[in-house]
Amino acid sequence: MISKVVFGEPVRTDAITAEVETAKEAARFEVTEDEKSVTFRYALRSRDVVYGLGETMGKVNKRGGRYISFNTDTADHTDANPSLYASHNFIVVDGEETFGAFFDTPARVVFEIDWHDSGEIRVVCETRDLSLYQIEGGSAYEVCRELIRAVGRCYLPPLWAFGYGQSRFGYETEKDFRAVADGYQENGIPLDYICMDIDYMDGYRDFSFNEKSFPDIAAFVSEMKGRGIRLVPIVDAGIKVEPGESVYEEGVQKGTFCRNREGGYFQAGVWPGMTHFPDFLNSRARAWFGGLYKFYTDAGFEGFWNDMNEPAMFYNEYSRGFKNVLFRLALDLLFGNRQREKKERELLRGYKSFYHDMDGRRVRHYDVHNLFGGMMTRATSEGLEKLLDHRFMLFSRSSYIGASRYGGVWTGDNSSRWEHLMLNVRHMPSLNMCGFLYSGADTGGFGGNCDRELLLRWLAFSAFTPLMRNHTGKFTRDQEAYRFGDVEAFRKIIGLRYRLLPYIYSEYMKAALRADMYIKPVAFVYPEARGIEDQLLVGDSLMIAPVVTQGAGGRRVFVPEDMTRVRYDGEFRCEPAPKGWHDVDVALDQVVLYIRRGKLLPVGKAITNTAEYDVSELTLLGDGESYELYTDDGLTRDCKPENIRILTK
Ligand code: NOJ
Repeated sequence: MISKVVFGEPVRTDAITAEVETAKEAARFEVTEDEKSVTFRYALRSRDVVYGLGETMGKVNKRGGRYISFNTDTADHTDANPSLYASHNFIVVDGEETFGAFFDTPARVVFEIDWHDSGEIRVVCETRDLSLYQIEGGSAYEVCRELIRAVGRCYLPPLWAFGYGQSRFGYETEKDFRAVADGYQENGIPLDYICMDIDYMDGYRDFSFNEKSFPDIAAFVSEMKGRGIRLVPIVDAGIKVEPGESVYEEGVQKGTFCRNREGGYFQAGVWPGMTHFPDFLNSRARAWFGGLYKFYTDAGFEGFWNDMNEPAMFYNEYSRGFKNVLFRLALDLLFGNRQREKKERELLRGYKSFYHDMDGRRVRHYDVHNLFGGMMTRATSEGLEKLLDHRFMLFSRSSYIGASRYGGVWTGDNSSRWEHLMLNVRHMPSLNMCGFLYSGADTGGFGGNCDRELLLRWLAFSAFTPLMRNHTGKFTRDQEAYRFGDVEAFRKIIGLRYRLLPYIYSEYMKAALRADMYIKPVAFVYPEARGIEDQLLVGDSLMIAPVVTQGAGGRRVFVPEDMTRVRYDGEFRCEPAPKGWHDVDVALDQVVLYIRRGKLLPVGKAITNTAEYDVSELTLLGDGESYELYTDDGLTRDCKPENIRILTK
């Protein structure tokens, strides 16, 4: 049961598409209002668990933390940092009372959840205009499903987007991309796509290619596709201010950029220098921006990642001092915190000094900040829907609830640290609770230097996340899977992903089409697993228990009912895993997974590319009797819940 309470005159966020009844007042919260904000309070019982908030720091159980919804470009993924790239204002209280609350406002929101042992949830929405969606349900799982249903159907990627991808900030030329393709293919390690970071562009301008590095881009895209590899270019939020350039001129002429206080177009310094931000909150600007992707689709591209859309800016027209990206980055390194604080003040001043035209309603950016990235995803997705007659890959750095209908997300600039592997494990169920099924982290870590052990363990986890992409930063060590000595272990673990594809694709599509979660906390099905955050349920048949500790030859696993343990070492070896705690060895080149009682896991033959995907001969593991396999052609939009084939043992 879902209802909403409206405060003031909320802007349209389009987060919820379902018809929802209006209630007079908040059922679970004590509400106080002042001139600038609305505060919601709820007294927690000692055993209550609080789930939600999607992409935030903290644990899966959000108790004890303070989190701020204010989309931020930050590489500081530590608990000291209250804001990451996305704002997912949905929480679920699971205890004596079980209910969910979605605070639908793109303004800044502060969540204090038993912060400093206050014993209460305190949510301060820094606006008078918002909708509170309140969801009642028998269990935390049901409450999440109700929200996901209300958001509307999740983005459906093509099959190849479930393959393994390689990326790096630093690949520049055709030669670099061919070398990566060669590295994987010569070593027999599966690969489906390579992401192109900003170095493909001409002077970091969106909708451009460096013609020296890519003399015939369409031919290159087709050459790579001929090898089974899709190229996936990045697109940044800002358009370079550059008289004479067609995209810039068009935006100026059509009035599709955000305006500053004086009525001119607001200028923000990002990678190409000064840029204008398209007004993604305006439907006309969205249609214009989405149409620009024709530049890429004409060349044969079918997948994109949208970046810097919090929106990130290194400086803006109101900043003092030098306006040069590299100089500013050097200042950050030299002057650390002082520089950071100054930058934060500057950033806020910037956010407070530009405006959107929300189809007739003029709003200050700061007040609707958290909507920007999600609306960029929407613009791109709606454009691609028209430009292509089939599904496409799309994932974004910034997001707001509802953007899951248009594309997926990745969790930004993490580092090659074990804590960030665990953060990835925590993010996945939390993102799924908020409807973001197509998601993943930079496998191996973006910042810092990954080592063999961390990459293998991280791959062994990412093998289950819908987006499985190895990505790293500009000055880090080589992170491709063939750069760490003996490749056999990498071949095995990435190979496992491909053997599991019939299950992963099927479970993802069923979850998306049935408004379900793809990854969930074990406690959503087995209440006795309450508090266990380093094991997850993946789809309907599997439980995973990734190794997230350096130097560990295995781990302790809680098996909540009798299950089948499957050890993959190139072959699938099954044995009973009785209910209870187990110490389980997991060698570096192995993955151990658990099939739930009465369920089946379909596995395919070894393949190295989704082009070889074949469900005609699947092996069924586990003690269940039947499995609902979702099948389609993996590319067209003919995705229906009825595309089910029942497999029996
Ligand atoms: C920031 C993104 O988070 C990162 O993934 C990307 O490599 C850089 N921008 C450069 O485009």
